[in-house]
Amino acid sequence: MAVPPAWKNNLADLLTRFREIIGDQYVCVDEENLDKYAHDETENLHFLPDIVLKPRTTGEISAIMRICNQEKIPVTPRGAGTGLSGGALPNLGGVLISTGRLNSILDIDERNLQVTTEPGVITEELQNAVKEKGLFYPPDPSSRGSCFIGGNIAENSGGPKAVKYGVVKDYVLNLEMVLPTGDIIWTGANVLKNSTGYNLTQLVVGSEGTLGIVTKIVLKLLPFPKYDLLMLVPFRSLEKAGEAVSAIFRAGFTPSALELVEIDALKIVSSFVDSSAVPVTDDTAAHLIIETDGNHLETLMTEMEAIAALLTEFDCGEIFFADDEQQKAALWKLRRRVAEAVKLDGYTIEEDTVVPRAELPALIRGVKELGRQNNFHAVCYGHAGDGNLHIRIKKEGSRYSLNNPDIVPSLKALFTLVKSLGGTISGEHGVGLVQKEYMDVVFDPANLSLMRSIKKVFDPNNILNRGKIFDL
Ligand code: LAC
Ligand code: ZN
Repeated sequence: MAVPPAWKNNLADLLTRFREIIGDQYVCVDEENLDKYAHDETENLHFLPDIVLKPRTTGEISAIMRICNQEKIPVTPRGAGTGLSGGALPNLGGVLISTGRLNSILDIDERNLQVTTEPGVITEELQNAVKEKGLFYPPDPSSRGSCFIGGNIAENSGGPKAVKYGVVKDYVLNLEMVLPTGDIIWTGANVLKNSTGYNLTQLVVGSEGTLGIVTKIVLKLLPFPKYDLLMLVPFRSLEKAGEAVSAIFRAGFTPSALELVEIDALKIVSSFVDSSAVPVTDDTAAHLIIETDGNHLETLMTEMEAIAALLTEFDCGEIFFADDEQQKAALWKLRRRVAEAVKLDGYTIEEDTVVPRAELPALIRGVKELGRQNNFHAVCYGHAGDGNLHIRIKKEGSRYSLNNPDIVPSLKALFTLVKSLGGTISGEHGVGLVQKEYMDVVFDPANLSLMRSIKKVFDPNNILNRGKIFDL
């Protein structure tokens, strides 16, 4: 039997110290709480923490981290638990720190077009709060109605609007964070340009909670565009839909969203949300959802018509233009709920591949071929405009990818293909637990060694989100 770690011998004393810092009711060891924090949205994986802590302030998190660092207790930071790579799973037990009570928007700076927020704010609530002032925070992951902005920082999330507006990293100006040692730092300054020293802000964005716990976030905002138009385009071939994507950009257009949904995914999600917003015809293999936005309606209409004309060269069917906000909302609802719907349908394994945009047809062909060779079904959907293809896999008898000898070789083959096309294994979901096995497919040893060294500098005792991204 494994010897329990030393810190477990002083559990009662430890709990007393945590209670003194954050108050009795925010130190949880009851079964219900532990179980609630044992999973996220990743492949139904389940790991129980030993202790759940719900601090309210940066100072409290700092005091907790000092104790955990001293006692060498594994710590898992957690936002809303909507992650798809297992980043917030307490894989080693120990302490789980929920950022749910750090949930205030601190300042909307209309003079500078910036917002300062705590990490436990729901992304859509932040978007709505700044929109009330005519401002725009574009990154919009499908889970924006429930995910936290802090989790978005940890994973460098994207979403449909990334194709025109970029991903989370493009909006983060400055971060307050608690280091694994308990020290508190600001990573940068609240400025639009910064050539002052190493860019710690951008190192922390996407570091999946392995380098520190972010406690305040300063984001850049844009003026909210006045208009948007949306169309849905059916294609008879999935590959042709993929080819059309890069043609749109080559012709000089930059849509504000360019999403792809393969027909099987559309059928599943339509029945899941009980929607008939998209009529499905027998000869449709996939749809592109194309949005443009801006301040001049006429220009947008002309642009949409020109894109539509271009798409006729790619064997598309009849194009549907969304007439009003209701139709747009119905289409977006279908798109945003695909992941949830296909997971329930048995497509439990989710990949987040990304390739240079023009390689999308080659990736699609390769995925289908791998499925035939390895007996799995794959449905493709996602942010085609970014070359970011979500691939959901269903294989009889295999619901999980983690350490599964029945799936791992197929995923290695998939990622080898992605790498050969100039791509990588995650565009926006992160590596977390489920992709770490494949890091050596896309990085050489010198690169991985550098990353491990960075982790050691931030976290000498390797307590914070240990075992995520890579093992040390
Ligand atoms: C989406 C999530 C799964 O694009 O990233 O729906
Ligand atoms: Zn996505």
